Amino acid sequence: MIRENVHRPMTTTDPIHRNPHLPFGDQQTSPFYGNDILTVNQFSRDDLVYTFGVAHEMREMVTRVGTFDLLKGKILGNLFYEVSTRTATSFATAIQRLGGSVIQINEVKYSSVAKGESLPDTIRTMEAYCDVIALRHPEVGSAALAARYASKPVINAGDGVGEHPTQALLDLFTIVEEQGHVDGLTITLLGDLRYGRTVHSLARLLSKFDVKVHLVSPPSLRMPANVMAEVLESGLSPTEHDTLNGVLPKTDVLYVTRVQKERFANPADYESVKSSYVVDEETMAMAKESMTLMHPFPRVNEIAMEVDADPRAAYFRQMGYGMYVRMALLAMVLGKA
Ligand code: NCD
Repeated sequence: MIRENVHRPMTTTDPIHRNPHLPFGDQQTSPFYGNDILTVNQFSRDDLVYTFGVAHEMREMVTRVGTFDLLKGKILGNLFYEVSTRTATSFATAIQRLGGSVIQINEVKYSSVAKGESLPDTIRTMEAYCDVIALRHPEVGSAALAARYASKPVINAGDGVGEHPTQALLDLFTIVEEQGHVDGLTITLLGDLRYGRTVHSLARLLSKFDVKVHLVSPPSLRMPANVMAEVLESGLSPTEHDTLNGVLPKTDVLYVTRVQKERFANPADYESVKSSYVVDEETMAMAKESMTLMHPFPRVNEIAMEVDADPRAAYFRQMGYGMYVRMALLAMVLGKA
């Protein structure tokens, strides 16, 4: 069921609440209780403050005690129709750090999907066993479709070239943790802005803030018109560039993306743009001392490994922040934040 940012009231028909075995003392306090997370557009600035507050607490708790029982007995269905390392692992770790457990379907070819099962049927099967479902799927709108059939919360873990809301939330959390604030920053998104779903979600989130955004990509990989229209409507006026050099010295956050090989219909088109940008020591020498360098990973060759030792390289810390944000989101949709 799609419940766009609606605070779901507790009712006697609520399938989770009706379960007499589960202690839900504080579920009404969580603004996302019972909600799907499909797009970053569901998050107001207040919701972001709330989410990051919870994520911050999760960070402290993990540092102090490692694992704790906030979601004891809860089961996450991690349903991945596309490959994943970080998203799948951090969702799985997040629920386990909170005392819950995970059913991982990584290779749908070993599930009934290979027999031709539809997404709605697979989703209804998963929700028969799980309390919340994280779905990654190659088609835009797949998470919204799944949510229409599920009565348990569905979290979009990437729908094709559409959105990747939990990644954008962790990206923004990374910016907050590394830079201390968002308003006033100059943020440059670099690489494949056409097919990269993480930048589609991040641009939408950034449009809620008073930031300057530069979009650097080859002309064939510009930000899609629908995303541009949305962010312009929200008052953000990103500037588009072919090269990084002009905007780099003023950039506070450089967000690098991979050219999404798997999304190209014609391999020759991929070959012509695959090595458009490489961030190396020379690039970093021209950047601010305080710049934060981010990448959702996997990287192919967009950031040279020599940069990893630079304290401004935040991408490995960014992965860690992902777990705290996903812990927060799971606790929120299950009414325990
Ligand atoms: C991204 C994705 O799957 O969209 N990876 C991730 O979730 N961290 C980025 C990518 O694949 O390039």
